[in-house]
Amino acid sequence: MTKPPVESSVTAVNDNTYRQLHNVLGKETIQTVVNSFYDQIQQHPTLGSYFAGVKDWDELKARLGHFWWIDLGGKRYREDIYNPHAVHRFLKIPPALIDDWLVLFSATLSEHLSDENAKAWLIRATKMAEWIRTDLQEHSK
Ligand code: HEM
Repeated sequence: MTKPPVESSVTAVNDNTYRQLHNVLGKETIQTVVNSFYDQIQQHPTLGSYFAGVKDWDELKARLGHFWWIDLGGKRYREDIYNPHAVHRFLKIPPALIDDWLVLFSATLSEHLSDENAKAWLIRATKMAEWIRTDLQEHSK
């Protein structure tokens, strides 16, 4: 196998393209993607039941819209503090379900965004999803 050129590996390590997405997409589009994702997740065969306890969907969507807005490089506009590791650990989500989450997230991104923007957001979401998966694996031993 040929090694990738040094420049491209450096780019991969330092790829912060996703931090520009708040600018490129804007708050409204980010929130639209998040709303669409959580509208679909409620009906999802393997993921839906974990959301059965959600009392206020508008609040949850607003919270997660803000989560992504900040993660994609925007300035915070809510006071929220997030602890996704603790939340998912508490829910005892089987690590394998992260794959289902990523499939649905990827489909939602493609539905709303250009290929380029969908790809940049998906790379970031995949990284986060793998952190959550590793944490769930560590805590299910
Ligand atoms: C197996 C897949 C997953 C399931 C079933 C799941 C389910 C949930 C549920 C039920 C909540 C709590 C809702 C509430 O506040 O009542 C939640 C919160 C959250 N999830 Fe997930 N999730 C999954 C994967 C992910 C992934 C991969 C990410 C990020 C890339 C993510 C990001 C978040 C965030 C940021 C919160 C809010 C945490 C907080 O309030 O501190 N989730 N999730």
